[in-house]
Amino acid sequence: MTTGTTTIRSVQWKGDHILLLDQQKLPHKTEFIKLTTIEDVWESIHSLKVRGAPAIGITAAFGLALWAKSFKGKENFLGFYYELEEKRSYLESSRPTAVNLAWALARLLKRFSGAATVEEGQSLLIEEARAIATEDERVCRSIGEHAAGLFSHGDAVLTHCNAGGIATARYGTALAPFYISKEKGVELKVYATETRPVLQGARLTVWELMQAGIDVTLITDNMAAHTIAEKNISAIIVGADRIAANGDTANKIGTRGLAILARAFNIPFYVASPLSTIDLAIETGNEIPIEERNSEEVTHLNGVEVAAKGVKVYNPAFDVTPNEYITAIITEKGILSGNYKEALAELK
Ligand code: MRU
Repeated sequence: MTTGTTTIRSVQWKGDHILLLDQQKLPHKTEFIKLTTIEDVWESIHSLKVRGAPAIGITAAFGLALWAKSFKGKENFLGFYYELEEKRSYLESSRPTAVNLAWALARLLKRFSGAATVEEGQSLLIEEARAIATEDERVCRSIGEHAAGLFSHGDAVLTHCNAGGIATARYGTALAPFYISKEKGVELKVYATETRPVLQGARLTVWELMQAGIDVTLITDNMAAHTIAEKNISAIIVGADRIAANGDTANKIGTRGLAILARAFNIPFYVASPLSTIDLAIETGNEIPIEERNSEEVTHLNGVEVAAKGVKVYNPAFDVTPNEYITAIITEKGILSGNYKEALAELK
């Protein structure tokens, strides 16, 4: 199938359940699973069945709405509120780095503050979760429109991890310009890093772009410098999990190394991100919590042990790229560069 765009919806609200694309099964199986409880939602986020900052936020919002819908004590408004706060913290604990998770849940709680009864609260929470998902599609499209203007027909661009349609409501962030360019007849060549340890590039980015008929070539992470030199890569574009007030950006582990390479090769390094990923409460990247995941992700490949048994493992899931390596941050409201502290504060 070559649609020229991204059509698959990775997170769908179905009223009494969430229909979730199981990203752990990709690319070999396109399998949707039904989430019926808040525990299902927590587990799906924690185990990367759904991943990517905006998609995590949308899923958590639907998760809280799902719990609210199933709340029974219609007369117990205070009890509902206390439990709502508890469930919000519970969902927030599923993954620490992507701020979209906390952002989406905070939005739901704010909307809930307008409720006077349990029933009213239930419908406001559902409405807000749906609004977050609908808005995200518009936001990503807009990021893609802005970012597409940075590339010209025939350009070869490198990306890392998966910041695509399945990591958002649609289009993605870093992959959005490839979809928008394709729609406009502008052909770009994408080089995708495989993204160890859990291969979001090899399993997800490549799968997504191939479905849309976009020219994509897979490389392993350690081929990046050679590929930039040999394949005339004109830019690197990545997504983000949390951007501090000064522009320091947390994204998938390996991003910082690519930013340093971009500087060495004198090519632009772009971060594509919705405003919902910007955390003005955090001054610099030093304060961003970095998730560390289990050692099997490093010692095993597809369930097969590849490392010497018993070895010590360090497995940070993200790193922080200092703002000075970032040529521009592309948001739904436009392209920022220079003094990020001022520009981000003005935009948010
Ligand atoms: O561990 P993951 O797969 O959730 O990490 C995802 C990333 O680092 C993405 O680049 C980021 O969330 C942006 S998704 C539009």
